[in-house]
Amino acid sequence: MSTKLTKLQIPAKFHRNHLANTSTTDSGKALIDYALKILDMGTLGNLDVLDIGCGVRFAQTIINHQLSIKSYAGIDIDEEMVDMLQERLGDKDPRFSFYHINIWNDLYNQTGVPFTELGKLPVEDRYDVIWLFSVFTHLNPDDSRHMLKLMSKHLSPGGKLLFTTHINDEITKDSNSGFVDYFPDEPLKAAVYSRATMDKMLDDNGWKVEFFKENTPEHFIADHYICTLA
Ligand SMILES: C[S@@+](CC[C@H](N)C(=O)[O-])C[C@H]1O[C@@H](n2cnc3c(N)ncnc32)[C@H](O)[C@@H]1O
Repeated sequence: MSTKLTKLQIPAKFHRNHLANTSTTDSGKALIDYALKILDMGTLGNLDVLDIGCGVRFAQTIINHQLSIKSYAGIDIDEEMVDMLQERLGDKDPRFSFYHINIWNDLYNQTGVPFTELGKLPVEDRYDVIWLFSVFTHLNPDDSRHMLKLMSKHLSPGGKLLFTTHINDEITKDSNSGFVDYFPDEPLKAAVYSRATMDKMLDDNGWKVEFFKENTPEHFIADHYICTLA
């Protein structure tokens, strides 16, 4: 008898991104609803999704709100969290799989290797949707460029990339590079790019911008892009 999970319990220490007064799955549901609206690709039930920097929020939301999904692959640099998700969900439901990459990030993993040394992502497939929520917001420019390059090999024909970032053109006054690590005492807490810098990184790595919108707090979302392969 198949016993699909209907509740995914996640220890509090793994929660990465819920806002005050909002449960992780409430913000996750609001974000998924909004993402599906702007992606305009139908329901999750028809989509293979690759979630990079997955955290726990979307896997937990999909299970606890009993959303249908064709498949969901999550990649993250937090090994303990990835192992926990694979054990509690991936091993029980074949639609879900989780992959760890041992990558250095000032905020999340100070023992990994530089991301630019990673030759490929730990998946073989192509996906209808690749999404990254609150990940470019913590990547320096070299890592952002590398992420854009690696991801481009995993989008299906007709697929779309959705990611959030912090865009602020004011920073060009202080930074010729079009990038500022906004809180220097807390490295990569807020990676901020000028629009021209982010657009150029996308263009240089084979992406075409289909949509850009500034943050909309009612959707719990930072500035965000949708791109296709150029
Ligand atoms: C702010 S959390 C967001 C988690 C999830 N996307 C969400 O919105 O709830 C950022 C996540 O990105 C992961 N991360 C940071 N750098 C990464 C990288 N280079 N590759 C994959 N994941 C990364 C962190 O471990 C963390 O889980």
